[in-house]
Amino acid sequence: MAPVPTEIAVAIDEEHLIQERLIRALAALVGEQRDTEELLVALVRYSRRHFDGEERAMARHAYPAAEQHLAEHRRLSLELDRLRTLERSSGAFAASVTQLASALRSHVDHDDAQLLGFLRRMAGGSSPKPVSD
Ligand SMILES: [Fe+2]
Repeated sequence: MAPVPTEIAVAIDEEHLIQERLIRALAALVGEQRDTEELLVALVRYSRRHFDGEERAMARHAYPAAEQHLAEHRRLSLELDRLRTLERSSGAFAASVTQLASALRSHVDHDDAQLLGFLRRMAGGSSPKPVSD
């Protein structure tokens, strides 16, 4: 059975927390001048999967602001790809990680908050069923 909009919204919220932890951990490694490769690959992969999931939810529920949201995902994906082209020990890499963290936060606070509000309104504001044991 397909997940209801509220369940999708809860899952997206949880994914945002994971994405935030990944970018924070990456920034911490940069600050400590440690190897960032594994975490960078994980962040890029996770973000792609997360964006794909949001895009499927938008398509499934005919989200009216999908075009603008997809454009923002494309922009963020380009920033993620650009990170992989930069010398890891460079100031440009460190600055780009900081900039991307800020861009992701802004995306979550604005575009994603609107999407989650839409999904929750679609569900009539009801909470997801509690998991029984
Ligand atoms: Fe998004």
